[in-house]
Order: sequence, then C-alpha cells, then structure tokens
Amino acid sequence: MRRHVIWRSDEPVSTIIVGRGVNNVLADIVHSHSYERVVILCQPPTSRLAETYANVLADVGIAVSGYTLPDGEDAKQLGIVEDVYRFLNETGFTRDDLIIGVGGGSLTDVAGFVGGTYLRGVAVVYVATSLLGAVDASIGGKTGVNLDGKNLVGVFAHPLTVLIDIDIIDELSPVMKRAGAAEALKTGFIEDMRIVEAYEAGGLDVDLLEIVNRSVAVKVGIVTEDFKERGRRAILNYGHTVGHAIETTTGRSHGESVAIGMVAEGAASSAYFGFTGEERQRAVLEQVGLPTRAADAGEVTIRAQMALDKKRDAGGLRMILLEDFGSPKVVHADDATVQAALDAVGIT
Ligand SMILES: NC(=O)c1ccc[n+]([C@@H]2O[C@H](COP(=O)([O-])OP(=O)(O)OC[C@H]3O[C@@H](n4cnc5c(N)ncnc54)[C@H](O)[C@@H]3O)[C@@H](O)[C@H]2O)c1
Ligand SMILES: [Zn+2]
Repeated sequence: MRRHVIWRSDEPVSTIIVGRGVNNVLADIVHSHSYERVVILCQPPTSRLAETYANVLADVGIAVSGYTLPDGEDAKQLGIVEDVYRFLNETGFTRDDLIIGVGGGSLTDVAGFVGGTYLRGVAVVYVATSLLGAVDASIGGKTGVNLDGKNLVGVFAHPLTVLIDIDIIDELSPVMKRAGAAEALKTGFIEDMRIVEAYEAGGLDVDLLEIVNRSVAVKVGIVTEDFKERGRRAILNYGHTVGHAIETTTGRSHGESVAIGMVAEGAASSAYFGFTGEERQRAVLEQVGLPTRAADAGEVTIRAQMALDKKRDAGGLRMILLEDFGSPKVVHADDATVQAALDAVGIT
C-alpha cells in the first residue's frame, strides 16, 4: 500500500491510500480515531461493496448504519443532502462519529459536502470506486452539488482519508476505465509522461496500480503547493475550457468531453507556443478509445458556452496551454488561438 499525503503548511490534511484490499485499513482507521458510530453512504451500484465494509466494521463492534443515495448526478442535489442530514439526525450522529462515502465522484462529492457542513463539519473517509474518482474527484477537497449549473453549491472540505482499492478499479467496465483514462492522461500531459507512455504501451489494459499512484501523486503535489487554489491548481483544468463547453452543449460524458477538449487545446498550444506534441496526444487518446472530434457541436453555441467559463476573468478567456509536455501555462487566449482549438476538433 502506498500513502500520499496532502499538506497545508506543515499539517497533514488528507491521506490517500492506494493498494489492493482496503477492508483492514478501514477498520484500523475507525479504531485508531475511536469513532463510536459510522454511517456509510453509497449508491445502488456500490451498495454491495458498502455492505461488505459495514460487515467488517460491525464484526469488530462498531455501530454501523447505511444510506443509499440515488445514482450518479441524481445524488448531487440539495434535496438529497437534506435527506442525508435527516438520516444522520435519526441515528443520533455526533461530531465524534464518522461518515464513509463509498462510490464514484458523484457520491464522494455529496458525502464530502454533507461531512463538511453537518454539525459544521464532521470526519469523512472516501472509498473511491471509479477510476475518475480515484485519480481526480476524490482528491483535493472540492465538494458540492448542482444547482441549475454544475457544482454551483459547495464547500472545500478534505476527507480524512481516501482509500483506493485497485482490485475494485480493475473490475470496472471499459466505459468507466476510459472516463478515468481521460483524466489520468491529462495528469500525464501536464506533469508525468510516464502515465502517457504506459497507456501508449498497454492501451486500456494498463497497470492501473501504477496509473492511479502516479496520477494521485501529481494531484496531491499540485494541491499541496496551491492549497487555497490561488494559481497553480488551474493547470488541472487542461482540456476543460473547451471540454466543459462540449459536455454542456452536446451531453457527452465528462471524460469524453475532456479528451476532445485536450485535442482542441493541444492544437491551440501549437498555434500559441509551437507545441509539437499534438499528434502524439491525439494518438494515445484514440488508442484508449476516447473521441477526438465533436463535429456535431456548433461553433456559435460552443463559443457562447466558453464565454461563461469559470476561468474567465477581466482579461478575457483563460486557457491552459502546453509549451511542451510537462510544461503547462495559463494564458489569455486570443481569437486565433481559440479558432485553432475549435478547427482541430471539427467544430465549425
Ligand atoms: N470534486 C472534484 O474535484 C471533482 C473532480 C472531478 C469530477 N468530479 C465529479 O465527479 C463526478 C463524476 O464522477 P464519476 O466519473 O466517478 O461518475 P459517477 O460517480 O457518476 O459514477 C458513474 C457510475 O458508476 C457507478 N460506479 C461507481 N463505482 C462503481 C464500481 N466500482 N462498479 C460499478 N459501478 C460503479 C456509479 O454509481 C455511477 O452509476 C461528477 O459529478 C463530477 O462533477 C468532482
Ligand atoms: Zn475533469
């Protein structure tokens, strides 16, 4: 098992444990903090896993109860958060107790939000069960729900521990492995080319223990360096300016949209910086089966959507562009750069 730690100044804030078989670690964590009561939150596809953990904890004498949220984005609603608060009330939950969230990014976003707000903040542990959750969503302390727009209500709240069991990740469907591959490859392009090389060599069948450890190490490093999200964290949004616009306007999944967004922003990087990795980037995304074009998306709609991007500031549209692999820069994109991005993915 490998431990990655997020620090704030000299204080450890969150530990991410990556390995195979995490049941024992879970019992250890509960015991070492002497939590009296544990509430496990899950969604239907992760309820059996949640039950396994509940049994492990019950066997060692801990009072456990479980609550199943609606699946996917349906969980990310204030109404659902309220339901969970009421359930916690019913169990007599106190600040000495622990919430464990077992699921993908949508579940951990809600579990983290509940934990960060109930009784003004209680301890939370995540078991990240999707590849996207393992390499991205479960790390960094961003939690929240949707309100008209995505993630509009939230709070920064770090889980005490994130457990990532590679035995679970290995069993995911190709679709879910692809969604996670887009974010893992993003981490590779901005900071660790070994991730890219691994996907080039193995396609979707890469060694996910290595991919997750490497991606987590990069994200933990960036979050530790920029704990309050003042600057450097923005590089994690590579591919996301165009990607979010595609996700919102065409309804493609987040991973697929980010893959297309990286192709677009790779082309923008060529136009702006003379970046030479565009073709290599496109090839590896295609190799794992991710899309690289969005010819169905209309230019006017995409441009309008990009104008609403959260990264926009008084100087105009900001994009993360690559000078080279491993060398991302935040720039204000001029019109020719944006045009190069859209042309490259067939948005006309
Ligand atoms: N907080 C952050 O920093 C951050 C970063 C990126 C994404 N996110 C959020 O994460 C969410 C996307 O996460 P996701 O891609 O994990 O999607 P998801 O949580 O919606 O999971 C996709 C589906 O897979 C199921 N699932 C999860 N684990 C499974 C397993 N082991 N076996 C079978 N099915 C399983 C889920 O129940 C769901 O049906 C979005 O809401 C996004 O906003 C948050
Ligand atoms: Zn993303």
